[in-house]
Amino acid sequence: MLDKEDNLKEIERRCGEADLPLKEGATNLVFGKGSSEAEIMFVGEAAGKNEDLQGLPFVGKAGKNLDSLLSKVGLTLSDVYIANILKYRPPENRDPLPEEIKAHTPWLVCQIEEIKPKVVCSLGNYATKFFLANGEVDLMDKQQGITQVHGKVKEINFKGLQIKLIPLFHPAAIIYNQKLLPLWEQDMEIVKKVIKENVKQKTLF
Ligand code: URA
Repeated sequence: MLDKEDNLKEIERRCGEADLPLKEGATNLVFGKGSSEAEIMFVGEAAGKNEDLQGLPFVGKAGKNLDSLLSKVGLTLSDVYIANILKYRPPENRDPLPEEIKAHTPWLVCQIEEIKPKVVCSLGNYATKFFLANGEVDLMDKQQGITQVHGKVKEINFKGLQIKLIPLFHPAAIIYNQKLLPLWEQDMEIVKKVIKENVKQKTLF
């Protein structure tokens, strides 16, 4: 029988073959990284330049902030799975378009259905609104933004999975707006508490 890791590899292979918007201008598919056995997932927006070059999410500057978030809450890459809303980099890192989100997110849903995370940390507005809208892209606009909901844990039923959603500022936002740093630190405490209560960690702190 195929295990989760094999299934994820197969989903990635099929995603790479799919005719998705943004594929043509991209260097690599940026599908996901981390453990297929993870109980906590981090979901960002889209690859930047470094991610596009390496084919892995969060390996650039924002990735450094995400790494420090993980270590602050006592997690390593073997405890988490990290993916994005879009699977290819938008030109000049522009915001994702609704048609792109509609075309790409069925692949994210496949990742979630395979991993079945107990906790999802949505990074920034796009990922947060996607989960708050229950994956209905046309309803994303109607959701509250990250400034209102960051750090507020919400129990959601996402495609039949009971998930604790923790909306967080995007790690790149912290680079451009240092004023967010104290709020980001406060939110880390919430992440710590939720994972302590809900997630089996390989690394103990
Ligand atoms: N920002 C994201 O949202 N995702 C990445 O993979 C890198 C930067």
